[in-house]
Amino acid sequence: MKTCRLVILFSGEGSNMESIIHALHGKEFNDKRIEISAVITNNPDANGINRAKRLGIQCEVLNHRDFETREEFDSALCKLILTYSPSITILAGFMRILTPVFTSQIRALNIHPSLLPLFKGAHAIRESFDSCMKVAGVSVHFVSEELDSGAIVAQEAISKIDGEDFLSFKERIHALEHSLYPAAILKVLET
Ligand code: GRF
Repeated sequence: MKTCRLVILFSGEGSNMESIIHALHGKEFNDKRIEISAVITNNPDANGINRAKRLGIQCEVLNHRDFETREEFDSALCKLILTYSPSITILAGFMRILTPVFTSQIRALNIHPSLLPLFKGAHAIRESFDSCMKVAGVSVHFVSEELDSGAIVAQEAISKIDGEDFLSFKERIHALEHSLYPAAILKVLET
């Protein structure tokens, strides 16, 4: 039985991190056992820290404010990630623009709450809600140098509902993220 170690990066609520831990940590899939070795946040006030503690997962805080440049932070982050020798690194609401220092060293996946390549950036859910499109959705993609632009691994759409308010729409997007991301991670680990 091969063990696949994962490291998850997050910045805030950490709901995707938690759903991945519930779905994959300590579980066996075909010939693989998955272990979430650690989670890492750049934000000492992130609520996800409490979630990780509750779940008994090692949580590291690396505050980006302690570094003068993005490159210095990315370099320290890579070093920390590599101490866990992950098969792949999982970005789950990690709200940092990454430099080539990171992308050249770390093979990583990210989740984005839109049907990429539409609505890149930090306001995807709002922009997708406000758009004239009849569908919205979620994408999981490899992390590349350009924001929200790496190869898409998995994508799922939902229909918009006439008269639905933003909060309910947002909740449906998050629920979709929570099911799609663990499945997409498994798919990548299988290949
Ligand atoms: C998610 O919607 C993710 O797609 C986006 O940021 C949000 C993070 O939520 N990048 P959480 O921290 O996982 O609850």
